[in-house]
Amino acid sequence: MPTISLKTSIPGPKSKALSARREPAVPRGLSHALPVYVAKAEGAVLEDVDGNRYIDFTGGIGCLNAGHRAPEVVKALQKQLEEFLHVSVQVTPYESYIRLAERMNQLTPGKFPKKTFFLNTGAEAVENAVKIARAHTGRSGIITFEDAFHGRTMMAMALTSKTHPYKAGFGPLPGDVYRIPYAYCYRCSYSLKYPSCDLYCARHLEDTFKRIVASEDVAAVIAEPVLGEGGFVAPPPDFFNILIDICHKHGVLFIADEVQTGFGRTGALFACERYGIEPDLLVAAKSLSGGLPLGAVTGRAEIMDAPGPGGLGGTFAGNPLACAAALAVFDMFEHQDLSGRANDLGGKFQERARKWQKHWPLIGDIRGLGAMQAIELVRSPQTREPAPEETKKITQYCYEHGLVTLTAGSYSNVIRLLMPLVITDEQMNEGLDVLEAAFHSVAEKQLAVPQPVS
Ligand SMILES: Cc1ncc(COP(=O)(O)O)c(C=O)c1O
Repeated sequence: MPTISLKTSIPGPKSKALSARREPAVPRGLSHALPVYVAKAEGAVLEDVDGNRYIDFTGGIGCLNAGHRAPEVVKALQKQLEEFLHVSVQVTPYESYIRLAERMNQLTPGKFPKKTFFLNTGAEAVENAVKIARAHTGRSGIITFEDAFHGRTMMAMALTSKTHPYKAGFGPLPGDVYRIPYAYCYRCSYSLKYPSCDLYCARHLEDTFKRIVASEDVAAVIAEPVLGEGGFVAPPPDFFNILIDICHKHGVLFIADEVQTGFGRTGALFACERYGIEPDLLVAAKSLSGGLPLGAVTGRAEIMDAPGPGGLGGTFAGNPLACAAALAVFDMFEHQDLSGRANDLGGKFQERARKWQKHWPLIGDIRGLGAMQAIELVRSPQTREPAPEETKKITQYCYEHGLVTLTAGSYSNVIRLLMPLVITDEQMNEGLDVLEAAFHSVAEKQLAVPQPVS
C-alpha cells in the first residue's frame, strides 16, 4: 500500500487557515519550504492537519537520521519527563550529561584523550569551537570556505558563504575571517580538473598564509566534510589530509563541522571517518539527539581545557531531555546498522538518478556520500548555468504529489536528500518515483526548448 495519501489540494484548507493566522503573527524572515502544518510524524512520514500523508526526504533538515519519534528516543524522553526537566548543568550537573560526553569522546574520530561539552544548536556549537580554538592558540584568525554554511548567529554567519538570504544586510560581521575555495570539482574556482589538478585548492592554503593572512595569526581552519547548505559537495579523498597537514605544520587547528554530516548520514557515524581524518575539534548537532535541540563540541582534551572555568556554558545547554534523547540515538546506532543503511540508500538513489541523467540534460551533477545525496540542476550541461527556477518547480511538483524535499546550493539549484535512515525500501522507492515524475514534468519541457550547441 502506498504511503503517500493526499486528500486535499496542497496546502489544504486547514493549513491555509493557519497560514492566514501566521501572516500577521510571525515575521516574513522565517520562511517555510512547504506551508502545510504538521499534525503527526513517524519514521519517514509526515501527516498534516488536513490528513494528507507525505514521505519526508528532509528529516527536519537532517536532524532525524534515527527517524521521527524513534521509539527508543520517545521511551527515553518519557523516563526523563518523570525525573526532572531542567536544573541547568551550570548549577547542578547530572549523570546523563557526563555519560553522553564519554560516548562522544569514545566514538568521535581520533585516538587521543578528548573532552566534550554541549550547547543547544549547531550555530552555538560553531561559535564555541571558535572561542576554544582562539583561547588555545592565542590567535584570532579563522579560515573558512566558499559555499560553507555554519549557522545564523553572528560568528557562524560570518563563516557562512552565501550572501542572500543569510548575510546580506546583517553586517557588520565579526572580523578576522578569511575565505578560500572548497574542492567543489563541478564548479572548480580555479577551473582545474581532478585528479590532474593534484588538489591545488588544498595545497593553496600555503599560499593563503603568504598572501592573505599569516599562519601565526590563524587559530583554525573550519570545514564541513561534505558541504551541507552549499550543495552536498563531497571533496576527493585526499583534500582534507592535505589541508590538515598544512594546518598542523603551522600550528593551526582543524575544526570539522559535522552538524549536517554527522550521525550516520554519510555512511559512518561521522564523515571524518570516511576521509580517514582526525579533526582537532569536531562540532555536532542536528541528528545527534533524534529531534531535540542539542549541539556538541568534542576535541583534544588539552585544547578543550583552554577556556577557564565559567568561560563555556549556556543556561539550557545540554538540557536533560536532549541528553536522554541523544543517549537513545547512540544506542540505536550501536544496535542497528544505520550507517550501513545510509550507504544502501545512497546506492539506491545513485542507481536511479544516473539513469535519469542520461535522459535529462537538466541534471548536471549527481553526487554525495552515503545517504547525503544530491542532484545539481543546470540549464545546459555545457555551460553549467545554474537552473534555480527549474529546481523550484521540481520541489513544488514533489510537494503537490506528497514528497517533501529541500533545495540547497549557493545558486539554489541543488535538490538534496536527507530522508530518515529508517525509511523503508518501499517508501524510498515511492519517494524516488515522485522525484522521477517531477523531472519528467519539468525536464521534458526544458528538452522542448532548443539547447545551445557547444
Ligand atoms: C554544517 C552546518 N553547521 C552549522 C549549522 C547550524 O546549525 P543550527 O541551525 O542548529 O544552528 C548547520 C545548519 O544547517 C549546518 O548545516
